[in-house]
Amino acid sequence: MTLMKDDQISSNKIIDASISFARMHCKEFTPQARKNKGQFFTPKKVATFMADLFEIRNEKLQILDPGAGTGILLSAVCDRIFEQDISYNIQIDAYENDESLIPFLKNTLELSNKKLSKKGHKLSFKIFNSNFILEDKFSTNPNQPEITKKNQYDLVISNPPYYKIDINSPESRKLKDFVFGQPNIYSFFMISAMQLLKDEGQFIFIIPRSFCSGLYFGKIRDWFVKNTQIEFIHCFESRLKIFEDNVTQETVIFKGNKTKPDKKQSVKISISEDKSFTNSFSFMAKNKMVFERKSTESFIRIPHCEKDLKIIQEIDTWDNSLKSLGMEISTGKVVDFRTKENLIYNFEGKNGVPLLWMHNLNDGSIDWPSNKYSKPQGILLNEQTKHQVIPVDNYILLKRFTSKNQKRRLYATPLLKSNFPEYSSIGLENHLNYIHGVKKPISIFDLFGITALFNTSFYDIYYRSFSGNTQVNANEIRNISLPTSDKITAIGKLVENKKYKSNKDLDIHIGKILNFNEALLEIVQNY
Ligand SMILES: C[S@@+](CC[C@H](N)C(=O)[O-])C[C@H]1O[C@@H](n2cnc3c(N)ncnc32)[C@H](O)[C@@H]1O
Repeated sequence: MTLMKDDQISSNKIIDASISFARMHCKEFTPQARKNKGQFFTPKKVATFMADLFEIRNEKLQILDPGAGTGILLSAVCDRIFEQDISYNIQIDAYENDESLIPFLKNTLELSNKKLSKKGHKLSFKIFNSNFILEDKFSTNPNQPEITKKNQYDLVISNPPYYKIDINSPESRKLKDFVFGQPNIYSFFMISAMQLLKDEGQFIFIIPRSFCSGLYFGKIRDWFVKNTQIEFIHCFESRLKIFEDNVTQETVIFKGNKTKPDKKQSVKISISEDKSFTNSFSFMAKNKMVFERKSTESFIRIPHCEKDLKIIQEIDTWDNSLKSLGMEISTGKVVDFRTKENLIYNFEGKNGVPLLWMHNLNDGSIDWPSNKYSKPQGILLNEQTKHQVIPVDNYILLKRFTSKNQKRRLYATPLLKSNFPEYSSIGLENHLNYIHGVKKPISIFDLFGITALFNTSFYDIYYRSFSGNTQVNANEIRNISLPTSDKITAIGKLVENKKYKSNKDLDIHIGKILNFNEALLEIVQNY
């Protein structure tokens, strides 16, 4: 299987061999079979970029790659070490549970060994053909002090597998302290690997951006925010082009140290469109701009540029949230395919109420009934549907899904009690979120004020730093900072009296109400 002759080893990159091995493997197994095992091999440029990120601090280096595949990341590390002038002693532990990949992995590491020895470096490696999470060599709770005895690696480099995992699986049971909702194996790899890293050890992960804000990763994310200093984040903005297979996720690379975070430190953020690092640029952001600790949860925010930082800094000074204003956000209760028999196209002779879908929200107003789409216009009122409808009241409706090429992520529309005077209840389809009052209905001015705020360019910037996802999650909206009640009321009055000429003009008026300085108003003006 060796792809290189002995005399070619010094001049060739080992990563080229490991990439060829990955291609051979991909020819043998269907994309679906690989997807089921969480196999997405790292492209060469990305692996080299990751391997270039760590600092070589000692002459002896213990390295862990959990989920090593054909050894693409490890070969990138070895290719880098080869270039160093002083001699290094490298010890690698590679975990890979797919037996069919082990010969490739072994070959990559043997080639690395040969190559490194030509320059006087030493490499020893162990391959564990086992389940990295269940391997019984570490405690499951990194908060336990005895874990420090087990810490052994200077560097963890990993492109962990990605697949959902059953809540009752042995893996979930082992990491039960970190499970909330639907777990994904990649976050288990992250937390497990961190337990094996030395204090001050370095980690480099390539992972889906959903880790930064997704509800289900909250406990593991919180651990990272409290126990590590992430120094560098690279964000690939393209959702399709990082891995060969169709991975429809924005992807990020984290590089950090296992150490208590220092508030005064900054994080380098770099952004590129795709895996060839097209149009790449970078900037520095203070820790507090990126790692946000709300009362119940931590978030990792990725601003897109320095201007975004100014907007985030301003909005972060506002203390209100939906909860403090007496509001909550919920998801529309009508799931069309579960209640098909109750959905109606016309109301004649039927006891039905309006049903609103995403397409009924049109440029800030409700377009109902609408004949543009062949969707049911209403839902029958009966025993089955009485918990699917809600009273007609004042609500702020938010689309839950947007497409990548839509300009904004947040699309808010006010629903007024007076919009539907003939009905006492209404159905909201499941692709809509709605904000409602908890103890009393939302006042007209709060309704118009918050709707207008969510539709501004600056809330779009702020919201995008939380989430790279085109889905708008209720949890993220719950954690959005809002200004004081009197400012919201003032914005609400401005909107009700329609004292603005265009959406941009409205944004600037709102910025002025919020006492934005010249620099912020300029950002709004130029958005
Ligand atoms: C996303 S791939 C990355 C492979 C390689 N590190 C790379 O960067 O190209 C993740 C690898 O983890 C392996 N894997 C999946 N579940 C595993 C488990 N529970 N324990 C060990 N390896 C696992 C898969 O077979 C796959 O090779």
